[in-house]
Amino acid sequence: MLKDEAMPVQYVLPHFGDRALTKGVLASRFVAMWQQRLNSPEETYCLGQRIGTLAVPGLVVALVGDLGAGKTCLAQGIARGLGIHAPVTSPTFVLVSAYPEARIPFFHADFYRLGDSSELQELGLDESLGSGTVCVVEWADMYLECLPADHLHLVLTDEGQDCRGLVATAHGETSKVLLQAIQSV
Ligand SMILES: Nc1ncnc2c1ncn2[C@@H]1O[C@H](COP(=O)(O)OP(=O)(O)O)[C@@H](O)[C@H]1O
Ligand SMILES: [Mg+2]
Repeated sequence: MLKDEAMPVQYVLPHFGDRALTKGVLASRFVAMWQQRLNSPEETYCLGQRIGTLAVPGLVVALVGDLGAGKTCLAQGIARGLGIHAPVTSPTFVLVSAYPEARIPFFHADFYRLGDSSELQELGLDESLGSGTVCVVEWADMYLECLPADHLHLVLTDEGQDCRGLVATAHGETSKVLLQAIQSV
């Protein structure tokens, strides 16, 4: 499903509203939306790879979903699509991993253990977000207000042992173009 209307996300994600809405995040409007079922880890990884292959400088991907939802799996696919061959591990403890050798400099961040938003400056991430890089942020909903307005918002939900649900919303032109491109591959 692709919607082109600018409507508040909370109308389409009532089941996921709690955490994100308390951050005031989803008041931001999306310009395109896509829903997809991911039937295996391979499908999650391949979608990531497609995003990485089509990514342009400035892309910010916000990954949202509970523990085990598939955020790191998707980020690993994105890294592969950006030409990274090195193992990509979860940045839960380092908070941000940088891959300058990628086709476009790639940052893989995790906001779960971020103490407060000023830490983004210490990590050097605030300057990288949305400018000449590709940034993928796990647990992005914890500090979504720190992300640029234009970002691709991916919500993963556990739909059972072998399946995940994905709701993707684009919040600006860069992410909208990418969202449309990944559907047509
Ligand atoms: N579409 C899917 N269907 C079933 N399992 C999946 C799917 N996508 C990912 N997984 C699996 O879910 C587990 C948790 O994934 P992970 O990426 O570590 O989650 P998170 O980073 O959100 O905590 C992994 O074993 C991964 O292979
Ligand atoms: Mg993870």
